[in-house]
Amino acid sequence: MKFFIDTANLAQIQEANDLGILDGVTTNPTLMAKEGIKGTDAIAAHYKTICEMVDGPVSAEVLGTTFEGIIAEGQKLAAIHPNIVVKVPMIKDGIKAIKWFTDHGIKTNCTLVFSAGQAILAAKAGATFVSPFIGRIDDGSWDGVQLIEQIVNIYNTQGYMTEVLAASIRNPLHIVRCAEAGADVCTCPLSSILGLLKHPLTDIGLQQFLADAQSMQ
Ligand code: G3P
Repeated sequence: MKFFIDTANLAQIQEANDLGILDGVTTNPTLMAKEGIKGTDAIAAHYKTICEMVDGPVSAEVLGTTFEGIIAEGQKLAAIHPNIVVKVPMIKDGIKAIKWFTDHGIKTNCTLVFSAGQAILAAKAGATFVSPFIGRIDDGSWDGVQLIEQIVNIYNTQGYMTEVLAASIRNPLHIVRCAEAGADVCTCPLSSILGLLKHPLTDIGLQQFLADAQSMQ
């Protein structure tokens, strides 16, 4: 399973990248706005900086919702850097646009996916990635990981090439369960990635080893 970081924060991207386990980055308008980025030029410059930091796919989301608007915006985003993946919402014009981008060799990430039916449409349109939002599904008392399992199963059965990118990750257990479910990619906040490091027995064991090492000197 590939690890992407789900943020537009450059310090967090750098910290995850320095671990040596980062395969890519995803952003969305909320994450970009959180960094105070405003205006087309600033948005493009920020994506370029991220692409220069991380060697892997960087999802950049369109803001338009019409077919023509999504195509125009997506072409501009794709021109920023070869690693840009155009992130398109799961709406009717979005699916049409994903098919257009597929036919024109532009990679896409179909976002705001909450059902297996939506994931089938994204795959049929040729999306590079499909992004089911598992945390938001859990918020409504459904099981987000179950949706990942269902989509992975359908894609394997049907031979769809779209990669299942588990998004809206809220904790380290989500990452573990997505790995078990066969997700191709997990896009996570830095806190969830770092949470994977934690185990009290590791801390206790290390303290003991350090104390014993000291006694040997
Ligand atoms: O990037 C999309 C997704 O990961 C959003 O996560 O936590 O806002 O549901 P969240």
